[in-house]
Amino acid sequence: MAIKLNEKYLSGFVSSTEVEKIAHIAESAYSVVKNKSGAGNDFLGWVDLPVDYDKDEFARIKAASEKIKKMCDVFVVIGIGGSYLGARAAIEFVKSPLYNNLKKDTPDVYFAGNSISSSALNDILKLCEGKDVCINVISKSGTTTEPAVTFRIFRELLEKKYGEEGARERIFVTTDRARGKLKEFSTDKGYETFVVPDDIGGRYSVLTAVGLLPIAVAGCDIDAMMKGAADARVKYSEPSAATNECIRYAAIRNIMYNKGKSIEILVAYEPAAQMLSEWWKQLYGESEGKDNKGLYPASVIFSTDLHSLGQYVQEGLRTMFETVIDFKKSSDTVVIPDDPNNIDGLNFLSGKELHDVNRMAMTGTLFAHNDGGVPNVVLEVEDRSEYSFGYLVYFFELACAISGYMLGVNPFDQPGVEAYKKNMYALLGKPGYEEQKKALEARIK
Ligand code: PA5
Repeated sequence: MAIKLNEKYLSGFVSSTEVEKIAHIAESAYSVVKNKSGAGNDFLGWVDLPVDYDKDEFARIKAASEKIKKMCDVFVVIGIGGSYLGARAAIEFVKSPLYNNLKKDTPDVYFAGNSISSSALNDILKLCEGKDVCINVISKSGTTTEPAVTFRIFRELLEKKYGEEGARERIFVTTDRARGKLKEFSTDKGYETFVVPDDIGGRYSVLTAVGLLPIAVAGCDIDAMMKGAADARVKYSEPSAATNECIRYAAIRNIMYNKGKSIEILVAYEPAAQMLSEWWKQLYGESEGKDNKGLYPASVIFSTDLHSLGQYVQEGLRTMFETVIDFKKSSDTVVIPDDPNNIDGLNFLSGKELHDVNRMAMTGTLFAHNDGGVPNVVLEVEDRSEYSFGYLVYFFELACAISGYMLGVNPFDQPGVEAYKKNMYALLGKPGYEEQKKALEARIK
């Protein structure tokens, strides 16, 4: 079992009777997902994706990753939001946040096009100097400004460096099957393309080519990742909150929300899970935060943040609950040495494994935060393997869809994202936005 829901630290905050009372609502939200009968039901391709995926394309992803590994020192992944976070989360989770700095036989992987910062882009351009570079531009719509501008810059760089033909060999595109500027352009240029399926939105797309190509280039086992997700799909196929921990987690979140606990903090004691938290924040924030509703998804890495935000969690406004990922096993073993002189007074830790000390910090914190009035849900996860990552992704995606339907929102759209884009286009003088430009300029004056 890759995940176990531990409700011990909800004691005194949420009773099993409360969960039972709300269970039927969570179960009917679950059946809305499974029966594809709710809002946004044309975006449910991720539900069966772990078994129902394009096997030919999967083979092509593996072949492309082998080619990229041979051909380049640096692989630049250009994308934003759901076209970026999943791949980065997986690589850091399975390998390390320091993946690029570690000894390895796979290319460095850099993520670009996820901001409009000239400094951030320039740093990556500098890192590419003197290196063999391949790029993967990822955009479902093919029109998102951040990756589109970044792609233009990298395309020019590759064409200057390798010529049209050489650049074509090094540019990989992941986009819609048929629509959008990027698709048209890639067909014209003859780039190798991969598909973001029509029925899978950006933030649910990590187990499609969107995530899988960069993840495979970094040397992760994508078969094991799909297997984890496939096993989770079977595990969470029971329609009852009594036995299905995914439905249960969604029910608990909803109880918290109704009790005024409007902030959910995802906690992990492994820095390697930081980007998983960023992926999770996008998944839940974009799926639930609409119609003036929704839990605010936040995250911390402990024990690091026990020395910053820990104070607030312990004694600040009582508006939050925590969801703690407890990794049972560490990927590495570090034993604390003995010091015969005990000069630092730390001999009570001699011979102990650092991971065990980390888990004691977690247990101590769980009780402290409970005592401070903060409920905690614990998700016990076996390890940081590819299998566990795939399993977690499926668990969180399904729980997110159930939660969204419980809240009464469409978990698959993101209408609010357009507001800034329209203003930015108007201010930059994009044709068609003339009226909005005038209105904004009047407000600026
Ligand atoms: O979840 C989503 O749909 C969004 O976060 C998108 O992934 C993000 O806006 C990037 O869009 P695109 O892939 O079309 O460039």
